[in-house]
Amino acid sequence: MLIKQDIPTRLSILDGFFNFNKMSELKIAIQKSGRLSENSHKLLEECGIKFSNGANVLKTKAKNFPVELLFLRDDDIPQYVEQRVADIGILGENMVFEKNKDVQILEKLGFAQCRLSLAIPKEDTYTGPGYFNNKKLATSYPKLLSDYLEKNKIKAEIEEISGSVEIAPGIGLADAVCDIVSSGSTLMTNGLREVETILNSQAVIIGNRNLGQNKKKILDSLLFRIRAVRHAKENKYILLNAPESSIKEICRILPGMKSPTILPLVEKGWCSLHSVVKEDQFWERIDQLKAAGAEGILVIPIEKMIL
Ligand code: PRP
Ligand code: ZN
Repeated sequence: MLIKQDIPTRLSILDGFFNFNKMSELKIAIQKSGRLSENSHKLLEECGIKFSNGANVLKTKAKNFPVELLFLRDDDIPQYVEQRVADIGILGENMVFEKNKDVQILEKLGFAQCRLSLAIPKEDTYTGPGYFNNKKLATSYPKLLSDYLEKNKIKAEIEEISGSVEIAPGIGLADAVCDIVSSGSTLMTNGLREVETILNSQAVIIGNRNLGQNKKKILDSLLFRIRAVRHAKENKYILLNAPESSIKEICRILPGMKSPTILPLVEKGWCSLHSVVKEDQFWERIDQLKAAGAEGILVIPIEKMIL
């Protein structure tokens, strides 16, 4: 009896959610090629979403989740999300703030970290932001640059160009540049030196403000998976052996998700302890654990982590 009642309820939930022949897919815009494209694709794959990889396709539907990918220039993504050509988009905050469209930031993604910076010919002496007075600055970020200039009361000319900004001083097009710096190698290759940071940026998901009920459901399910993937990356699974007398101290060092799992060892007075440790705290914690008497410490990557 119980089982019979249970089955139709479950089927109807699954039906509403995953029978995506019946519903329109969530359209996700990602960068076609560039700094963000590979990691954007990878993130969706780590969420268990499978795409057939046709070369040079501009859009593709997932095989096992109600989403469709649109491959676009990152510069165009904010506008397309505002207009609902795409429902959501994955791109850098730099582009979101530059384009200043009516979209919402739904989640920070932690990859494609970079900064928007001002750079000058490396042999020039830098005297502070006043250096830029009466100079000509090449950039693909005219809005963010003019906001910065205004805030710092600098009068400079902006030369807007859409790419290869770093060569502008070398070919006499501008005195300095305002562009994205990641590793810094593009600046170095072009004889430039970073002198001011205007904005720090990372990849984010932006969304249209008026998604319907169905699309919101798909989005929630996608965000749930993305968070599980990200939590897993931020944490490590840790196993160690310790004398029973150290357990209290070790539990204090390793609070874990709820509290550590403790199992007895065959050797009397010893136990094995399992927990989770944040990746960025992990070396500091390892030293504390050793000092507290822990031995045979193993640290293992986690694939997915649901809190
Ligand atoms: C930025 C910038 C440089 C490069 C800097 O381009 O314009 O070309 O990244 O990276 P580096 O410091 O590691 O050398 P972006 O990927 O934003 O390119 P796009 O303007 O073509 O989208
Ligand atoms: Zn771009």
